[in-house]
Amino acid sequence: MCGIVGYVGRRDVLAADGSADPAPGINSHSALDVVLEGLRRLEYRGYDSAGVAVIADGGIESRKKSGKLSNLIDELDARPLPQSLTGIGHTRWATHGGPTDQNAHPHLADGDQLAVIHNGIIENFAEIKASLTAKGHTFRSETDTEVAAVLLGDIYRSLAAKGEASLTKAMQLACQKLEGAFTLLAIHQEQPDVVVAARRNSPLVVGLGENENFLGSDVSGFIDFTRRAVELGQDQIVTITPDSFEITDFHGQPAEGTEFEVNWDAAAAEKGGYPSFMEKEINDQPAAVGDTLLGRADANGRLMLDEVRIDPELLKSVDKIIVLACGTSAYAGQVAKYAIEHWCRIPTEVELSHEFRYRDPIVDGNTLVVSISQSGETMDTLMAVRYAREQGAKTVAICNTNGSTIPRESDAVLYTHAGPEIAVASTKAFLAQITAAYLLGLYLAQLRGLKFQGEIRDILSDLGAIPKKIQAILDNADQIKKLAREMADTKSVLFLGRHVGFPVAMEGALKLKELAYIHAEGFAAGELKHGPIALIEEGQPVFVVVPSPRGRHSLHSKVVSNIQEIRARGAKTIVIAEEGDEAVRAYAEHVFYIPETPTLLAPLLATVPLQMFACELATAKGYDVDQPRNLAKSVTVE
Ligand code: F6R
Repeated sequence: MCGIVGYVGRRDVLAADGSADPAPGINSHSALDVVLEGLRRLEYRGYDSAGVAVIADGGIESRKKSGKLSNLIDELDARPLPQSLTGIGHTRWATHGGPTDQNAHPHLADGDQLAVIHNGIIENFAEIKASLTAKGHTFRSETDTEVAAVLLGDIYRSLAAKGEASLTKAMQLACQKLEGAFTLLAIHQEQPDVVVAARRNSPLVVGLGENENFLGSDVSGFIDFTRRAVELGQDQIVTITPDSFEITDFHGQPAEGTEFEVNWDAAAAEKGGYPSFMEKEINDQPAAVGDTLLGRADANGRLMLDEVRIDPELLKSVDKIIVLACGTSAYAGQVAKYAIEHWCRIPTEVELSHEFRYRDPIVDGNTLVVSISQSGETMDTLMAVRYAREQGAKTVAICNTNGSTIPRESDAVLYTHAGPEIAVASTKAFLAQITAAYLLGLYLAQLRGLKFQGEIRDILSDLGAIPKKIQAILDNADQIKKLAREMADTKSVLFLGRHVGFPVAMEGALKLKELAYIHAEGFAAGELKHGPIALIEEGQPVFVVVPSPRGRHSLHSKVVSNIQEIRARGAKTIVIAEEGDEAVRAYAEHVFYIPETPTLLAPLLATVPLQMFACELATAKGYDVDQPRNLAKSVTVE
């Protein structure tokens, strides 16, 4: 939530005409260009308002505007900013105070000499505001951020009065007073070549350039300019200048970050000819699954999950698995439960991260906690992982984002290789998470000697065939897209599934809710008669995810019976079934066939038509599928 960018480049490499454009061959960009490019890439983190501040001509200049980044760009066209080599930028997901121009960041303080941007929530802002007000300070917005800015300005001024003016020191002292979760970035006109940032429970990475350095909520904030990055730890402050970065803790003690190379391709974070990131990402799914499988097993099908650094003996003694995640990632967790319990015979619970630590869960040294998070920053999941570790559990993160907090705070990580997911609603990360969870389940089964090597090899080979099968579904998108357009005026859609089809149904409903703002519910088909069937009336559209008729025949016939029950009450049934399943035709208004695959792996295929349906329907309604209303990609507040 909220995207943050900071930049500082070297003034002595300015072009001869004094503009901020660098002399040829020298790295130092205009702060505004860097910041706007970073905000463009980070806009998925929040789009209630956007703003920038730069240091130019000895002063701070700022522009901010409610609404999307394009509004800020219009404002900058109307009221351009002077050239500069130091700047910060922010794209907001509103917490304290509505999405107005006034509440947009940056917030200025210390006589408008200081600018601050912020991601997170400062929990004790009311108390700090009261004491600052008592000292005579005034406020122009309703935000907690302005309170932090005024506090920082107040501290800076007191240091300056003692001849010790230092933005870094002021930030250290301010952070000692702040409670909650925050990333703060600040610039001060008296220190024109410095950007100072602090982080507590909120994301921040440093980008290292030549003659310039960068800050971002994640690496997309500077991916166009450098691939060298540094992860910061909790409660750390970093000061960047054009040719240095220095990390301390909140008390000024020197601290270290971890340098890493960004392996995301800048082009992968572009639309690549698709009308939206969402469409591109749906179409990226064969690669997302294929890349997540890549290099994880030897030629004999022996899994080698080197990243899972937990002592194998400990993993053998695990007697319970708890999967923690939110939203779509939690549905990936529910799919994982079916596979892990079936392959490993370890009791597996799936819990929404935000519920977990408030219910006194039973967790001990024999519990393996598997967190699933695309962003690696979801606050609810981070807090749940911390809680589990405190209780002695071992933690593995399934995550898509290098350098993010959840993997760093876990005992081990299994990265999904879906590439950057920019559209706010998750698609390719979901399939990659399911794939990684299968790998983890098979690895545990291998370690515990519960599957013959040949069996694991066969499942891996079935998984290896999935990317082509997803591609086949994508290549046949016309039928589902046509139906989606025809249904653009629908008011409510229900989704039914059973076994692994149940989380798929819930994911189908979630995609439709968040992209097309249509009421949608996913149910376990067996639950229908226990209440939800009352919702069925003439013409009610119901998607049914039908399991394969091969293998567990009883499950197939039970779902077919469910279809008959709702049809008899007037439902319009839209069925996702396996190729060759002719039995369902008689009961369906529409059938979408997916290629044959073992039942446990079917979610990797059955989800795809549902994603395409939601995306197309929302597009037909004229909605922005990349940035649905009220949402933000990375939910870094509880
Ligand atoms: C829905 C969606 C969200 C996320 C959830 C968890 O399309 O994207 O429900 O899945 O907010 O986010 P991560 O996986 O980043 O922890």
